Amino acid sequence: MKAGYLQYTPMLGEIRKNAENILEFIKSHKPDEKIDLLVLPEMILTGYAFPDKASLSRVCSEEFNDFTLAFCKEVSSVTGGYTVAGYPEFKNGLFFNSAMLTDKTTLVGNYQKSHLFGLEKDVFEPGESGFKVFSTPDFNVGIMICFDWVFPESARTLALSGADIIAHPVNLVMPYCQRAMFARSLENGVFTISANRCGTENWGSPLTFTGESIIYDPRGEMLARGPLDGQELKIVDMDISKAANKNLNSVNHLFKNRRTDLYYSV
Ligand code: ACM
Repeated sequence: MKAGYLQYTPMLGEIRKNAENILEFIKSHKPDEKIDLLVLPEMILTGYAFPDKASLSRVCSEEFNDFTLAFCKEVSSVTGGYTVAGYPEFKNGLFFNSAMLTDKTTLVGNYQKSHLFGLEKDVFEPGESGFKVFSTPDFNVGIMICFDWVFPESARTLALSGADIIAHPVNLVMPYCQRAMFARSLENGVFTISANRCGTENWGSPLTFTGESIIYDPRGEMLARGPLDGQELKIVDMDISKAANKNLNSVNHLFKNRRTDLYYSV
């Protein structure tokens, strides 16, 4: 199968322009073949730095949820496959930092970021969806968002729940995640796609996003790495059956050899 990321730099608050530009970028850079799964960054249509709930509420609404869904379905019509994209979700009067999974006709799944980073805690609620894996005819995909990576339980829960691929929309500002995802992939025997953005926004102080979107295979081989700064649509071949093999060697199984009797669980 073919899967990959869009690395992109949205303009803060310019939802319609971002949507148009992104669709144009994908159309003009996509390969001729179907893209089975394309992952877009966290908060890709809005940008990231909304310092208070009042500014977030200017972009985030039930109408915007619908707009994002229509956008993702349109991306899927262009690629022929599934789309994962991060967006600020408005639900029951609350804001969540979420990502949706769609095909060209419908919403397949939704995930709300569990571990909020830094000042996100001032504007978003911690997610309530929990870590979910969504099954398609060809692969099982789990979603986590950005800072979730620093808690290895996030990827582990998705892998134990049957994910072959972890779709990971990110807006990274620290320099660790791109290297750490090597371990998330290897220790769980899964493909990971971290779709990052570039550019600088101001949230009290300047936040510079670190690019270098990254894809690893289930043995920690790097399949792609984006530029530090710059936009890129990157698609790689994945032999998804590799994620079913949790044997690191003839005697060590990534899941069966766990000593759950020894782990601290609270
Ligand atoms: C992050 O979680 N956006 C760093």
